[in-house]
Amino acid sequence: MLNLGVLASGRGSNFQSIIDSIEAGRLKASVKLLITDKSDAYAAERAKKHSIEHLYINPKDFTNKDVFYEKIAGELSARGVELVVLAGFMRVVRKPLIERFPNRIMNIHPALLPSFPGLHGQQQAADYGVRISGCTVHFVDEGMDTGPVIVQAAVPVSPEDTEDTLSKRILKLEHKIFPEAIRLFAEGRLSVEGRIVKIRGYCVDEDACLLNPPL
Ligand code: GAR
Repeated sequence: MLNLGVLASGRGSNFQSIIDSIEAGRLKASVKLLITDKSDAYAAERAKKHSIEHLYINPKDFTNKDVFYEKIAGELSARGVELVVLAGFMRVVRKPLIERFPNRIMNIHPALLPSFPGLHGQQQAADYGVRISGCTVHFVDEGMDTGPVIVQAAVPVSPEDTEDTLSKRILKLEHKIFPEAIRLFAEGRLSVEGRIVKIRGYCVDEDACLLNPPL
């Protein structure tokens, strides 16, 4: 059973998809702690509903960002967390957390990295006029959405798409691939060589879209 710690800033629908996968028995994991950095994050309500411990940690209470991340790392370690999941956590995480959990922090990003990193990945894709976008789960390093890619999934983009319509289409896939990436980790199937993530027992179907993992 894998011990998870989740960090979120807002709505928490990705957090919910992880809870749902665990409760459905698809993911052998347990969420030990949710940490939010916003006092009104709806993710906190979801934790309450599912009897998951929650801490609101206000970044403004700390003299600098490193001390904030040391606090977070300490709370996660104290609960035996083995994998940290960034589920809509709208901050670039820093060394004190990354060094405590090397290749043990996963993030979901609403674009096909390395395209459209940072905020509003869906808006950036719609504005650029790409025909395909999607979402990426990756390990977190010190850059902005630059860590090794674990899984990606693609969606078509229409010229009529807005940030809102594209976000909805991408979000459906986020809810599938994030629990899937965590499951691969929980089953001990991921190894990182440089920036390449190897997945044991993962076959590419030559006739299918190479971007989509077997869900
Ligand atoms: C998701 O679309 C996630 O990919 C994105 O924020 C949303 C959070 O939704 N994350 C980022 O843009 C990180 N750079 P949620 O709170 O409902 O899971």
